Amino acid sequence: MMDFFQNVPKIELHAHLNGSLSNRTLLELGAMKYGKDNPGPSNDECFYRITNGQNLTLKECFQKFKYAHDLTDQPETLRYATRAVIQDFAADNVVYLELRTTPKKTVHMSKKQYLTTVLETIRTAQNEIPSITVKLLPSIDRSKGLQEAEENVSLVIELCQEYPDIIKGMDLSGAPFGTRFSDFGNILKKAQAHRLKMALHCGEFEDDDEIQAMLEFGTDRIGHGTFIKGVNLQNAKKRGIPFECCLTSNVKCSTASSYEEHHFKKLWEEGFAVCICTDDFGVFDTSLTQELRTCSEIFGLTTQDILRLQENTIRYTYANDEEKHKLTEIFNNFRKTMKID
Ligand code: IMP
Ligand code: ZN
Repeated sequence: MMDFFQNVPKIELHAHLNGSLSNRTLLELGAMKYGKDNPGPSNDECFYRITNGQNLTLKECFQKFKYAHDLTDQPETLRYATRAVIQDFAADNVVYLELRTTPKKTVHMSKKQYLTTVLETIRTAQNEIPSITVKLLPSIDRSKGLQEAEENVSLVIELCQEYPDIIKGMDLSGAPFGTRFSDFGNILKKAQAHRLKMALHCGEFEDDDEIQAMLEFGTDRIGHGTFIKGVNLQNAKKRGIPFECCLTSNVKCSTASSYEEHHFKKLWEEGFAVCICTDDFGVFDTSLTQELRTCSEIFGLTTQDILRLQENTIRYTYANDEEKHKLTEIFNNFRKTMKID
């Protein structure tokens, strides 16, 4: 039987570049950086277990970020990784992708070179893989402090001039503990003043005041939103702010106790603006196809519901009107081909 979940066109709005490297890509990058005979960063047991698809502990899952960062610290490997991620999403029938990544200064690259490499790779991919439209939301890793945040915003504002069709907004992510959103507000406002959209990780842990501050600041989408409740939840609904729900990521990170208990269920049933995303498909060993299948199996969404969920997501993208129109046509054609009203 045709796999509906694979075949339905999909929209991905919350994907971190270095969390979206498949095991195959990690191995290929390892061979590029360290040579074919010794592809592991330190040839260690954990890298072997990860790239051989063995069951991993959560700690080993997070180890993948460390390997990914080590392997993408040169322009050549970063270019290869970016291209591989776009290709993997396209192969999963994702037709529109908003990718995020934190610009990093490494021994081989400045932050500007890092971002430019990703942007140029996206630009080239637009011609070579025309089935997928790709945008970039550069990230601020809040655990890296305010100076890094300032640097990232300045750089993004500068590069926006050259890549206005690709850079559409900014993300605030990283481990939130020990930092306060209010410290980042004024820095992010500068990006907002340049008409950049704000796709902030919001409500990943319990802190009503921080969530309220993010809503008042004017986040355009909510990354996860797991712990948003009460007045904040009603405000998010009133303003129609879309929630980016990442089922497997939340279950594996234990911010949701199970798929069944995931807050997507409430959001969907109560008519919130909501979409399904992968977060880090490489780290959490999933795909958007898999997330939609899980959504259907666990929450009882029909194929019609899944299609509606994807079509709704067009409105939550930071694509321009023409691009949104093209996406709508893709879904209309899919409906016609599948004879779905
Ligand atoms: P990168 O920005 O391309 O290096 O993607 C990996 C980075 O994304 C991680 O080092 C974290 O800073 C961030 N990230 C990935 N998943 C999450 C999440 O669930 N919460 C917060 N930050 C995340
Ligand atoms: Zn995330």
